[in-house]
Amino acid sequence: MKKNLYCKILNNIEIAPNIHKIEIERVDGFGEIKPGQFLHIKCSDAYLLRRPISISSVEKDRVGIVVRKAGEGTALLCDRKKGEILDVLGPLGNGFTIDEGKNAIVVGGGIGTAPLLELVKNLKEKDITVLLGYKDNPYLVEEFKEYAKAVEVATEDGSAGYEGYVTDLLKRKLEKDGADIIYSCGPEIMLKKVQQIASEYKVKSQLSIEERMACGVGACLVCTCKVATDDGVKHVRTCKDGPVFSGDEVMFHE
Ligand SMILES: Cc1cc2nc3c(=O)[nH]c(=O)nc-3n(C[C@H](O)[C@H](O)[C@H](O)COP(=O)(O)OP(=O)(O)OC[C@H]3O[C@@H](n4cnc5c(N)ncnc54)[C@H](O)[C@@H]3O)c2cc1C
Ligand code: FES
Repeated sequence: MKKNLYCKILNNIEIAPNIHKIEIERVDGFGEIKPGQFLHIKCSDAYLLRRPISISSVEKDRVGIVVRKAGEGTALLCDRKKGEILDVLGPLGNGFTIDEGKNAIVVGGGIGTAPLLELVKNLKEKDITVLLGYKDNPYLVEEFKEYAKAVEVATEDGSAGYEGYVTDLLKRKLEKDGADIIYSCGPEIMLKKVQQIASEYKVKSQLSIEERMACGVGACLVCTCKVATDDGVKHVRTCKDGPVFSGDEVMFHE
């Protein structure tokens, strides 16, 4: 049974318009943290519902998250101040499996780049290419460069890097060098394309997907999604059985 952890906010910085990087104290109860796991966070004392937010960075004394203001909950979270105490539940979910071959491509889209930073840190012994896609205003790019030699950026408005979709960069990279494994997190439309490309080039993939969540711990079934297994289609809980699934089993919404 996961317990609530009460963590002091060490800093909260707006790193791009409406995108905040928040670091909280890594209190004892965190235990081991796997890249791709998330926290279920009480955004403010007055707001009852928790919001799922991926763990983006882990250090001995702190845990980092990156939050995009999407609605009321995340806006309240972004307004929290240094020194305040954050009520978090976690780490939750399964996280990425690291041991999947030497040549890895990591593909992130928008706020989906956040959990991939801790993943890349854990993949540093491997040959990694990181492909990051944004509408505009890239963020976290310098942090990725600390852990990976090859980092390429795509923006839809052409303000930085390649003008177009990050999945164009993925296709180009696979055409040239192939890969053993693709790790990805981002909007569903991007993940669908990554899944398609991975299947076309016969490369394994792990996709971190998003569903709306309530309890975050496998009890309420709000976050159910479908996966295709050898035994047929199964309903699974994104919060407990995911959020990371093998690309060949994910069944996206129609
Ligand atoms: C496992 C997981 C990890 C996540 N990690 C991060 C992260 O690291 N950083 C971050 O900023 N956000 C992350 N999110 C998304 C974040 O949880 C939602 O943006 C947040 O719950 C929205 O709450 P809100 O009260 O601000 O907005 P609401 O008012 O509840 O919603 C605002 C808008 O966002 C849409 N939305 C809400 N929740 C989701 C969802 N789960 N998937 C898709 N669309 C949604 C709504 O339909 C609506 O259009 C993650 C979600 C999941 C499931
Ligand atoms: S959010 Fe309750 S089961 Fe996943």
